Amino acid sequence: MPDNTPLQITRGKRWSVGVAEHMQRLATAPRLVVEGQLNRMVGLTLEAVGCHTAIGARCLVDSPGGETIEAEVVGFSGERLFLMPIDSVQGIRPNARVIPTDRVYEAPVGAMLLGRVLDGTGRPLDGKGPLKNPQHVALAGRPINPLQRQPIVTPLDVGVRSINALLTVGRGQRMGLFAGSGVGKSVLLGMMTKYTTADVIVVALIGERGREVKEFIDRILGKEGLARAVVIAVPADYTPVMRIHGAIMATAIAEYFRDQGKHVLLLMDSLTRFAQAQREIALAIGEPPATKGYPPSVFARMPQLVERAGNGDKGSGSITAFYTVLTEGDDQTDPIADASRAILDGHIVLSRELAESGHYPAVDIEHSISRVMIEVVNAEHVRMAQVFRQIYSLYQQNRDLINVGAYTLGTDSRIDEAINLYPRMLEFLKQDQRQPMDWKKSLQALQHVLGERAKPTSAAPKAEPPVVMNGAGRG
Ligand SMILES: Nc1ncnc2c1ncn2[C@@H]1O[C@H](COP(=O)(O)OP(=O)(O)O)[C@@H](O)[C@H]1O
Ligand SMILES: [Mg+2]
Repeated sequence: MPDNTPLQITRGKRWSVGVAEHMQRLATAPRLVVEGQLNRMVGLTLEAVGCHTAIGARCLVDSPGGETIEAEVVGFSGERLFLMPIDSVQGIRPNARVIPTDRVYEAPVGAMLLGRVLDGTGRPLDGKGPLKNPQHVALAGRPINPLQRQPIVTPLDVGVRSINALLTVGRGQRMGLFAGSGVGKSVLLGMMTKYTTADVIVVALIGERGREVKEFIDRILGKEGLARAVVIAVPADYTPVMRIHGAIMATAIAEYFRDQGKHVLLLMDSLTRFAQAQREIALAIGEPPATKGYPPSVFARMPQLVERAGNGDKGSGSITAFYTVLTEGDDQTDPIADASRAILDGHIVLSRELAESGHYPAVDIEHSISRVMIEVVNAEHVRMAQVFRQIYSLYQQNRDLINVGAYTLGTDSRIDEAINLYPRMLEFLKQDQRQPMDWKKSLQALQHVLGERAKPTSAAPKAEPPVVMNGAGRG
């Protein structure tokens, strides 16, 4: 039988209060940190034994000489932890202490970021002094329930005629910009940075040459572009961990502004360099390569990054993102290009042939597609874009015949029409990089190029199958 005498009750109470106090003391007591020791270094991989900490944790490697090097835990095997340095490894010695810290990697956020250039750790690179009272958010971000995301329904004016008219981008869309090197990716990104109607622009320059970073900021972005932009620059000579962090940090900053209700344009140059950084890390810790030297974790990491862009849940803004993808030797079947095509909502291919002939922006209309265009523009616009593509494509198919004079005018009325319209189409696709072209003017220009064919009732020279629309268009 329970003893409910007053004395027993007070004793019980005292006991539970005592336990509660003790628990609180334990909770606020400094946590026991188990330090380890560095016992091997191969390439950039550091191997530590004796410390207990989780993947992704920040560690400090302390050398007897006084240098402290920061490293991230990227893997383990039995008792051995694999770490990768964030910065240079100068001064690192055998048997150095490895001290796990409690802190996770964070991105500085706030309105003070506008006009600033940061590295992959959030440190300013522009010599304009430290950031003024930034808040911090975890790099990992918060996942959005895919069913809560707002659908893509609004077209975005990017200021580039060919894209506005033929490859319309929707607010919250994630596009790829595919091209080899030197074909004009950076210039096109710069044009969109300057001319797009977005509240905030976040630019991530990942794995570029240092010279290109400066050139992008000074010449391509310019003062007006930079004023509403945040640039995260991690050139090629930085460690792979820093390059990965740079890409993720840019995404986290874009998420912050989106959650403030802003419409953000996120430009990442390049997604390929992000993938290559992950390849360097994965191979260094012993993951077997799968496709063209890329280990499987690369193909897991890419959607994790890209899925964070897009529209937010109710009440938040949007992140429209452009990721450049390098197609080395203009090989469109590169595994990173393939994987990117699968995880993005469309791709713009830049053609070396066009660039070499001085046709800029070198957008290859035939091989480019915007998967959400049909959701964001009206049926009339979709129809005109299709007519343009059909005529342009017909000309390309017969180009050789036409050029060697083997085609006789009058043989096929459709080809005659293509020959007639082609020069105007080329002019329509070209655009001076200093000349913005807004949405309305882009559409008017498309109508103008097509002339009679822009009219819905105009009879095509030869019967043409009707345009099938699935889903209602919107203007
Ligand atoms: N719209 C354009 N108008 C004129 N020249 C251009 C244009 N776009 C690119 N170029 C030329 O191509 C070069 C390489 O362009 P860039 O954007 O740096 O290539 P990528 O980023 O693909 O390596 C530029 O330095 C410039 O000479
Ligand atoms: Mg470039």
